[in-house]
Amino acid sequence: MITLNRRQFLATSSAFAGISASAGFANTPPTNLIAQESDVQLLPGDYGKTSLWCFDGSSPGPEIRVAQGGRVQRRLVNRFSQGTSTHWHGIRIDNAMDGVSGLTQDAVQPGDAFDYDFIVPDAGTYWYHAHNRSLEQVARGLYGALIVEEAEALDIDREEILILDDWRINPETAQIQNDFGAPRDLSHAGRLGNLITTNGTFNLALSARRNERLRLRLVNASNARNFQLSLDGLDGWMVALDGMPLTAPIKVTDTMTLAPAQRIDLIVDVTANVGETAHIVQVGREETFSQVAFEVEEGGTVNRRDAPAALPPNDHAMVDLQDATTLSLSMEGGAMGRLSSASLGGEIKPMGELVQAGYFWSFNGKVDGIDGEPFARLDRGQNVRLKMVNDTVFPHAMHLHGMHFHEVAEDGTLGPLRDTTLLERGETREVAFVADNPGQWLLHCHMLSHAASGMMTKIVVG
Ligand code: C2O
Ligand code: CU
Repeated sequence: MITLNRRQFLATSSAFAGISASAGFANTPPTNLIAQESDVQLLPGDYGKTSLWCFDGSSPGPEIRVAQGGRVQRRLVNRFSQGTSTHWHGIRIDNAMDGVSGLTQDAVQPGDAFDYDFIVPDAGTYWYHAHNRSLEQVARGLYGALIVEEAEALDIDREEILILDDWRINPETAQIQNDFGAPRDLSHAGRLGNLITTNGTFNLALSARRNERLRLRLVNASNARNFQLSLDGLDGWMVALDGMPLTAPIKVTDTMTLAPAQRIDLIVDVTANVGETAHIVQVGREETFSQVAFEVEEGGTVNRRDAPAALPPNDHAMVDLQDATTLSLSMEGGAMGRLSSASLGGEIKPMGELVQAGYFWSFNGKVDGIDGEPFARLDRGQNVRLKMVNDTVFPHAMHLHGMHFHEVAEDGTLGPLRDTTLLERGETREVAFVADNPGQWLLHCHMLSHAASGMMTKIVVG
């Protein structure tokens, strides 16, 4: 009889998974996705370059684009100084490919590589990012867009992917502030920055034509900033949230909130005149800024189109609220919070000791994160209602891996499907989903400072 150690067993079973996934495909070597350090012109031109952690030498990294139902194969090659792994945010993925260091795989060490190979079931706007020491690795630039195309092309002129980020830069040196894990960020709103970019560019300017119809795919890659965005010189409709199509487009009349990790797909018509500039506007507390400018050039048309149709829905198991198990998640802690003790490694510790160990937040009185007991064990196919209570004075963007959930509206009806939902201070949110993807899935706050200091747990689906 042959005995396999755990490492050999994992290697063997993933080889089998590779064979079955590749049935019917030619076996070409996967494209590399190289994590490395690169000097990038992030600040305006008269400043020096900034050393970032990049995929393939840029941040955002390369756009990965695939047809719905298609296959993504990438060899993550680690050429920088820390172990890393890549998470495919929002993809209903095979658990082994979810890219969570310490849960679904070991971190890929410097000089090593890891092959990701998975099928993308849903069309939409997704993104990928580092999922080891994410607070630092994402803040230093390790992310990019993952676009899954609908089977049929939309009636648009073109599209733009717009990835928003918020960097914390030392203006003297033009380098990223090396203050990860500063207690003030961990315990307050998270690591907010001082330089806001789109696609790695400060004050991004694009061109457009009058009455042109664009699809804009907005992605928030920042650690902690909730962007408030509005449109100027653009008539727009939201057609998808977190990649998932809305049942009917929603006309943009007000400010849109884009929390960390969330996406909004917009269809916009350019209504500004030639020579004018249309904007995606970032609405600040006191001031508004141009997040993205579209300079309107000659060559447009006089005619506008009819309002856009809804995107084709993705195929999704329908959750049965009547038959659902109810789970509750109480989010506590942070500055000005009421948390006085919580359990760490099975022992109740006073807040002072938790803070010493780097914890400021808890879920249901526990701070164990990835290594602790799962928050819930669910049968495959089980219907779940998850009620989250934000008993803190800060906003939190709660993300579930591996499955999408509906936000449940106040009146008990099912709202949009999402993978990340924002709870403002004191807010309660119920979400519902069918636990139909087996494996170990993280549930965490995507304010990455919070995830690093207690706001992380996992759900196990049998
Ligand atoms: Cu986008 Cu666990 O992350
Ligand atoms: Cu949070």
